[in-house]
Amino acid sequence: MAGGAHFDGGTTKDYPGKLTGFVLLTCIVAATGGLIFGYDLGISGGVTSMNPFLKKFFPSVYRKETADTSTNQYCKFDSQLLTAFTSSLYLAALVASFFASYLTRKMGRKFSMLAGGIIFFAGAALNGGAKDVGMLIAGRILLGIGVGFANQSVPVYLSEMAPARYRGMLNMSFQLMITIGILIANLVNFGTNKIAGGWGWRVSLALAAIPAAIVTVGSLFLPDTPNSLIDRGHDDAALNMLRRICGTNDVEEEYKDLVVASNESKKIKHPWANILKRKYRAQLTVAIMIPFFQQLTGMNVIMFYAPVLFKTVGFGANASLYSAVIIGVVNVIATFVSIATVDRFGRRTLFLEGGTQMFICQLIVGTMIAIKFGTTGEADIPKWYAILLVLIICVYVAGFAWSWGPLGWLVPSEIFPLEIRSAGQAITVSVNMFFTFGIAQAFLAMLCHLKFGLFYFFAVWVFIMNGFIYYLLPETKNVPIEDMAIVWKKHSFWGRFIDDDQDNNGKPPHTPEV
Ligand code: BGC
Repeated sequence: MAGGAHFDGGTTKDYPGKLTGFVLLTCIVAATGGLIFGYDLGISGGVTSMNPFLKKFFPSVYRKETADTSTNQYCKFDSQLLTAFTSSLYLAALVASFFASYLTRKMGRKFSMLAGGIIFFAGAALNGGAKDVGMLIAGRILLGIGVGFANQSVPVYLSEMAPARYRGMLNMSFQLMITIGILIANLVNFGTNKIAGGWGWRVSLALAAIPAAIVTVGSLFLPDTPNSLIDRGHDDAALNMLRRICGTNDVEEEYKDLVVASNESKKIKHPWANILKRKYRAQLTVAIMIPFFQQLTGMNVIMFYAPVLFKTVGFGANASLYSAVIIGVVNVIATFVSIATVDRFGRRTLFLEGGTQMFICQLIVGTMIAIKFGTTGEADIPKWYAILLVLIICVYVAGFAWSWGPLGWLVPSEIFPLEIRSAGQAITVSVNMFFTFGIAQAFLAMLCHLKFGLFYFFAVWVFIMNGFIYYLLPETKNVPIEDMAIVWKKHSFWGRFIDDDQDNNGKPPHTPEV
């Protein structure tokens, strides 16, 4: 953490840091790590629905899909093979994040970002030039490794670099880049789908090299965070970096706090064994539950299947693609709302408001589909009805985009003490990827069985997660990252897991102003 509010022994003092141009630029460059994840989230659905792609790589899927004449809109042709291909990336990212956590701790955050960019670039090249399924899958795995590295290192980097007062805002630039990546991918697919020669999919896949190049080149110029520099024994470099970040030489106080945190961190040889200790039960629970809940909002059902969903409610192929683009735009714009408000309203307010908004929208969508499609899944619905549905889905997407989307990455990256921060983030990435994979894999089968009830299913989860946030997540806005332990210690439920001498890296407890 660099600069911002600091609280010690009950007296409030401020680290002298402010939001310098240097920090802003550094964070924007680092956040581009989100582009590669976003581009991939957005590109695969479109590519796997392009007929020339299916004919070339998955001819049996193509034959079965074109022979499917069922009019039941709930039970569409479902190819596990095709979805497994798409989701192989998420499994690769899951495994890679554990390797990344080791490198991020030992070699610095910047190193993992650079590695992520280069590996992703190689994956894009393999995919763009793919001649057979083998090349395609090898490319997907490399892309997944790149995403695993980036998602493990970027959120931690941003949270450490940012002054406490602006941490929410700066960290959320990662999610902003994810949403921009998704939108660009949607637009690219829209264009390449029209390429007459049937090689549009190649362009879509190869263009992933552009975000990869941005991340790779960008990370070459990034400095490492003061926290990581001290932790790796580069004390002078850390002090200079802190001065540069804060735009002042008056950084003694903060520097000392970072050294205390680092001394604690150095005592820990095995972060994985440590993270299981009782005193970290709160952080571990949150690092697992937040990404799990983020996926159980059902957002990726909309991200992956929006065009299919819109075709189902009666739009033509083009109108469906347009609607998907509209959703992409709403996703980007609504992310700015959270960027502008997260450090003022706090994480909890956004979580609870966004959750309530999503809950209501899901109930309405489920009911509207139930009214028209019933349980048979057959319907002919009027245009106004379909447009209303798209509008409500937009309100749902906006709710996600200013709550669970960005907060799903921010909160886990800011709650751990230095010694287990890297390991904690790896857990968050892997849980996120596992459930992204699971939802992508299970969605069509679930729709066929649960029908309109699928929307109620996600609504119930959103209700549960609102309860989790309300009772179990303390507010972390404006709290310096190396002082976070006090927030858990003071929490009515989690406090009992932490002994008195274990809070705040051995420093006396002090009261955060939130
Ligand atoms: C989630 C993704 C999701 C995206 C949508 C991210 O925070 O991790 O699963 O597709 O937001 O914008």
